[in-house]
Amino acid sequence: MIAPHGGKLINRITESPEAEAKLRDEAKGLRRLTLTGRELNDLGLIGNGALSPLTGFMTRTDYGPVVTSMRLENGLPWSIPVVLAVSRDEAPVAGTRAALYDGEGSLRGIIDVEDVFEYDKLDEARNVYRTEEEKHPGVAAVFARKDVLVGGPVSLLPTQNDPESLTPAQTRAEFERRGWKTIVGFQTRNPVHRAHEYIQKCALETVDGLLLHPLVGETKSDDIPAEVRMRCYRALLENYYPADRVLLSTLPAAMRYAGPREAIFHAMMRKNHGCTHFIVGRDHAGVGNYYGTYDAQKLFDEFTPAELGITPLKFENSFYCRRCLSMASRKTCSHDPENHVALSGTQVRAMLRAGQLPPPEFSRPEVAQILIEASRETASA
Ligand code: ADX
Repeated sequence: MIAPHGGKLINRITESPEAEAKLRDEAKGLRRLTLTGRELNDLGLIGNGALSPLTGFMTRTDYGPVVTSMRLENGLPWSIPVVLAVSRDEAPVAGTRAALYDGEGSLRGIIDVEDVFEYDKLDEARNVYRTEEEKHPGVAAVFARKDVLVGGPVSLLPTQNDPESLTPAQTRAEFERRGWKTIVGFQTRNPVHRAHEYIQKCALETVDGLLLHPLVGETKSDDIPAEVRMRCYRALLENYYPADRVLLSTLPAAMRYAGPREAIFHAMMRKNHGCTHFIVGRDHAGVGNYYGTYDAQKLFDEFTPAELGITPLKFENSFYCRRCLSMASRKTCSHDPENHVALSGTQVRAMLRAGQLPPPEFSRPEVAQILIEASRETASA
């Protein structure tokens, strides 16, 4: 089994009822911090080890080098800041502890405050997102953050287990049970289409198993809701995949739309879940025209294979070719683009709104049907 990033799978969730009671008791006397949806997504992933080796929110000694040079203080590759922001008024003092609450007022855990620091949002935007434009949804989220960052290790209360969302320890155990040695991870935030299926299956031809790992944390408002995407996946798996080669599980991470840098981040989370390989296709985690089609793939080359641990599987833009009568890419098809069926997300959304089914060359009919029903439900809601 592949080692987690940094060598050890982190667990910051209290395990005994006594520890849980102690944490609840301690929290009563502490300063209260209410986390945003994104911060709660990160908190859960720190807790279960998906963000190993992180044991908490970043202090400036990690934040600084992550922003400027994609490394943690200890030199490990890490491409995206994982931070907790508070206003100047509510900032706790370094050396104290603070209680972490969600928006509904439920206690989620405690942070040992090691560092409280100011940060430069523009600098983070420029480095991580390669743009300062607020219309970039990831940059907008950075600008919307409060002004001071609080870093330090966290301890969490256990949360209700979502059977659809396996923790890294659970996916690793499942891979072992199935006897899979090589596993390819697939990140996605969009409804599954045939190019996704094609690159997953190409990858699967060369490894033992596929972890289908749709991201279900916060996404931008015009992305298709996770629940609809999951229905699509179930229909696809039932009709077109061998059940014993695929594990479907959700990843409750927030989407950053940081393109290349997020591709590295996505790969690290899948490595922690036990994947040996990770699919990086066209414009991975991109939005608008901020990143070049293959920039995400190129960024993997700035690290050595040993320090990444997980192997990127890079795929060209894929499409259905009417001359080949199959899915293909520029690497495998020589026909003119007019023979290729490729639709953008925007085109598909427009078709669905107009009640039109995307063609079977683009989307499996079982999936298209679910999407059209979902878009009718939204229209009538
Ligand atoms: S992403 O934000 O999660 O990257 P999406 O769900 O569309 O968006 O993509 C999931 C993965 O499939 C990414 O690795 C992406 O690069 C890849 N991908 C999506 N569409 C294509 C395509 N037509 N050809 C090749 N790769 C693709």
